[in-house]
Amino acid sequence: MTVPSRATTPALLQVDAILSRLTGRQALEEVCRFLRHSFSHYPWVGIYRVAGTDLVLDAWDGPRATEHTRIPIARGICGQAVRENRSVVVDDVRSDPNYLACFLETRAEIVVPIHHEGQVVGEIDIDGTTVRAFDASDRGFLESVAVKLGAAVERSGSELPLG
Ligand code: SME
Repeated sequence: MTVPSRATTPALLQVDAILSRLTGRQALEEVCRFLRHSFSHYPWVGIYRVAGTDLVLDAWDGPRATEHTRIPIARGICGQAVRENRSVVVDDVRSDPNYLACFLETRAEIVVPIHHEGQVVGEIDIDGTTVRAFDASDRGFLESVAVKLGAAVERSGSELPLG
């Protein structure tokens, strides 16, 4: 699936609006909610924060909670995105030995790092329910969202969660 280019600019403006209106965990939760409800191929959206050697789930929106609220950076696709400091797109989680299972229906996953002062401070994690759910348009769009989250961290003068 894809993020149509006509949807990108309005969606990024919405993210700006959320981040200027809210701070802290509320801002992150609202960004997750907004992304999930704007794009039907984003059924579960989470934001993890880097905390020492772990990733900690700060905010999420989806039909169910995940048991993976703390993931060692050494593990999972979530950890891989931090270790390799890059966005990771997995077309079919069933053929990725790194994958930590959360939901039975997950088939694809995209994880996009959030940077602050040159360091990875967190990441956006989206689980999709179809093989190859995410393409380059998703990566480009979510990397722009991540830049906005990084800028909000900068403005708030703290680490994730903002505020
Ligand atoms: N699948 C992830 C774990 C987090 S859940 O998808 C919410 C991973 O492999 O790191």
